[in-house]
Amino acid sequence: MKVMVIGGGGREHAIIKKLKENKTITEIYALPGNGGMAEDAICVDIGAKDIEKQVEFAVNNKIDYAVVAPDDPLVLGAVDALNKVGVPCFGPDKKAAIIEGSKVFSKNLMKKYNIPTAEYEVFSDKETALKYLDTAPIPTVIKADGLALGKGVIIAETREDAKAAVTSMMEDKIFGDSGSNIVIEEFLTGPEVSVLSFTDGKTVVPMISSMDHKRALDGDMGLNTGGMGTIAPNPYYTEDIAKVCMETIFLPTINAMNSEGRTFKGCLYFGLMLTEKGPKVIEYNCRFGDPETQVVLPLLESDLLTVMQSVTNGTLDTCEVKFSDKSAACVVMASNGYPQKYESGFELNIDNSVKDSVYVAGARLDDGVLKTAGGRVLGVTAIGEDLKTAINNAYSKVDKVKFGNAFYRKDIGAKALKA
Ligand code: AMP
Ligand code: GLY
Repeated sequence: MKVMVIGGGGREHAIIKKLKENKTITEIYALPGNGGMAEDAICVDIGAKDIEKQVEFAVNNKIDYAVVAPDDPLVLGAVDALNKVGVPCFGPDKKAAIIEGSKVFSKNLMKKYNIPTAEYEVFSDKETALKYLDTAPIPTVIKADGLALGKGVIIAETREDAKAAVTSMMEDKIFGDSGSNIVIEEFLTGPEVSVLSFTDGKTVVPMISSMDHKRALDGDMGLNTGGMGTIAPNPYYTEDIAKVCMETIFLPTINAMNSEGRTFKGCLYFGLMLTEKGPKVIEYNCRFGDPETQVVLPLLESDLLTVMQSVTNGTLDTCEVKFSDKSAACVVMASNGYPQKYESGFELNIDNSVKDSVYVAGARLDDGVLKTAGGRVLGVTAIGEDLKTAINNAYSKVDKVKFGNAFYRKDIGAKALKA
């Protein structure tokens, strides 16, 4: 069986490594992948957003199954295009991917179907938004409507900062057209939980819960990043809370999408905040999280391809999805300076003893030599009997990875250990 995975980061590397446990897969391609995963997949120089070329490649190479991992191609309709030429896919179609592609859509969906989320207002006009901010509760949260590389959210502690954020999105267009419409919402507090779920539009199977660490520096200081590390399971997410989430959030969301004629099939990611008034949705993603996937999939004991195909075929209700009762931790190693300016192009040495535990996000092969080529370079994952052991194991493995200008947080999982 020939499988292709669209995308080129650590998440895709984790998906590929897990898929490869299925021995019916004879060839696995990554479009575009990166030099750091060349031992696990055949990397093909076709960009994640180049849908036309992806379709052409799938047809020419008789691809049997495709996994569309990143948000951009999903929102642009890669699944629709591949299905059209007969390639079955894991991932939502364009109509369903809007749940991540438009924050205005997802907020309105939650309001219409009574799914708990932060109070909000939508604005398409800068002056009205600025006027609203004269009296809005502070701190407040400003979100660009469209995709913005995970950076379209600004938390403003003062009215001035809030107004500056609105101006930067709506007038200066720092996120391009994504900021033409904005959402201004209530600032919530509480522990955050990521729950990735498999759904075929009828059944929803939550995966093991996880916790991301979005800020660049220890103690949750510094700028927001794509994610500096993760742990799973998330100790704040108790069985009781999981039950509440299933009843008030997961099933209502699947049903709401069906009612809107936008059946969601794939991985639906629930970004939750456990507030004093109960769990609320911070965001939906139409895909696996990065770097959540790097702790969730290593704990999956069932065969990933079988689960994905059951999602595609609408038979998830009969598919076993089993997770280990161990814990996992992933420490992201980045280039110093990320998420702002950083230098790369340094030689990357991953000791053989830890190769299986490393998910490469930003590297390239330069005449056979692996070099850093990105802000987030890789994630190092370890499993342990409990969370503390998993974290210790992950940091021991980090010591076996060397590259110039390396930087990583030293406190991944510390907050979870305090739960
Ligand atoms: P996002 O880019 O949507 O993942 O948001 C980035 C981060 O902003 C989230 O992980 C939260 O920590 C924070 N955030 C988003 N919305 C809110 C909110 N309404 N209240 C408090 N924090 C928020
Ligand atoms: N780790 C957050 C995300 O994938 O959006």
